[in-house]
Amino acid sequence: MDDRFNTMAGWALFAGIIALGGTIVSGKIFHGGRPEKMGYAIEGVEAEGGAGADEGPGIATLLASADVAAGEKVFGKCAACHTVNQGGANGIGPNLYGIVGKPHASIAGFAYSDALKSVSGNWTFEALDAWLKSPRAYADGTKMTFAGLGNGVDRANVIAYLNAQGSNLPLPAAEAAPAEAAANAAEPAANAAEPAANAAE
Ligand code: HEC
Repeated sequence: MDDRFNTMAGWALFAGIIALGGTIVSGKIFHGGRPEKMGYAIEGVEAEGGAGADEGPGIATLLASADVAAGEKVFGKCAACHTVNQGGANGIGPNLYGIVGKPHASIAGFAYSDALKSVSGNWTFEALDAWLKSPRAYADGTKMTFAGLGNGVDRANVIAYLNAQGSNLPLPAAEAAPAEAAANAAEPAANAAEPAANAAE
């Protein structure tokens, strides 16, 4: 009985050592093997998480100070595949005149991917922001072989430019800043309560 217990305990210990060793080894492999930048660099693609992640102000805030002329320059990256003039021809990508506010995949005569056709709703400012950040993440299987614009300001500028080409929708209200201001405003009030608490002591 004792012997069997010892044998079992021995095996349990052994298994633990193997598991630990495995963890260390795989940790070495996957840590050492995981490059600082994943895959090959594609212009405009963001690193996952970390400092490269775009945690700046939201699209509404960025649109409030977007620069249409700068957006026209950014559109240079799109012009190889898209026209944006009224009645412009579809190229590799569909004509983008008045795209802001239109339903997804709705330009006549363009053979969209099933991936994009299956996205419901309209091209809101927020939708365009997400799409242009990473078309593939937005609609996995899309035909738009464009890596994306990693810079939120570039996205806001080009979306403002697109909006000026036939859509002219009112820009969304910037929300982030006022919310933050309100949070800050609440702080002094909380602090003000402290002296009273101390006085009571
Ligand atoms: C290499 C060619 C290419 C480039 C560069 C490109 N696109 Fe596209 N774009 C496409 C294709 C192809 C589609 C259709 C995607 C599908 O059907 O999945 C598309 C679709 C779109 C749509 C959706 C249109 C609709 O009717 O639903 C928008 C918006 C768009 N692109 C904007 C842009 C912007 C803005 C840029 C530049 C920042 C850009 N694209 C760069 C090829 C391109």
